[in-house]
Amino acid sequence: MRNELSSDPYREGRARHYKLHHQKNLRTRLTSWREQEVVRLALEAAGRPEIVLDLPCGTGRYWPVFESNGCRKLIAADISEAMLDVAAEDKPNIADFSYRQLDLFDIDLPDKAVEFISCQRFLHHVSIPEERAQVLSELRRVASGHVAISLWVDGNLQGRRYVNREIRPEPGYGRRICRRRNEVERDFLEAGFTIIDHYDVWPGIAMWRLYLLKV
Ligand SMILES: C[S@@+](CC[C@H](N)C(=O)[O-])C[C@H]1O[C@@H](n2cnc3c(N)ncnc32)[C@H](O)[C@@H]1O
Repeated sequence: MRNELSSDPYREGRARHYKLHHQKNLRTRLTSWREQEVVRLALEAAGRPEIVLDLPCGTGRYWPVFESNGCRKLIAADISEAMLDVAAEDKPNIADFSYRQLDLFDIDLPDKAVEFISCQRFLHHVSIPEERAQVLSELRRVASGHVAISLWVDGNLQGRRYVNREIRPEPGYGRRICRRRNEVERDFLEAGFTIIDHYDVWPGIAMWRLYLLKV
């Protein structure tokens, strides 16, 4: 189990590259737009929560979605100071906005501190089952309402290439893995969540899926 603040996986150059990557061509812009759209659908299904934690926020790709969907208080957080520095260049128009360094394995916030947590593009980097359980337990502790998690699942064209690859477990934030939907869903249920819905970024084609969970 991990309890210390994990090390920064991004440096300044990589953080800026991450931001530019999602704007660099039509394909990445379209995918980013669809990812924002599924977060919007999850917010709507969750009743447009007002107090939101975006963890990990990366360079803030989802802030415009929170801004235009009823969010009144946004805590944006990431382990990476470099990501937070790049993200802070474009602050959202949300009156109660703050950003800070937080570790998903040990979130330094009280129980039920926020209504909704958006956890995008993180969990498929965690290959050790006990560590995934720790992250899910932390998300469930800190949210009072819903958690939206995106990750890679099988059951689509892209997943066929990935799902049978050998997983070499590595601690913390590591190489991305594709997992079977039924195993992912079992993890959510074992962590105590109810699965409300799921939204595929490119249905039938891409591995990206967002799950909306109730605590
Ligand atoms: C692929 S990026 C996704 C960022 C953002 N959610 C998005 O979709 O654009 C993964 C992020 O996870 C952050 N990260 C890695 N380990 C973390 C940890 N232990 N706690 C919090 N954030 C972490 C990285 O710094 C990075 O910003």
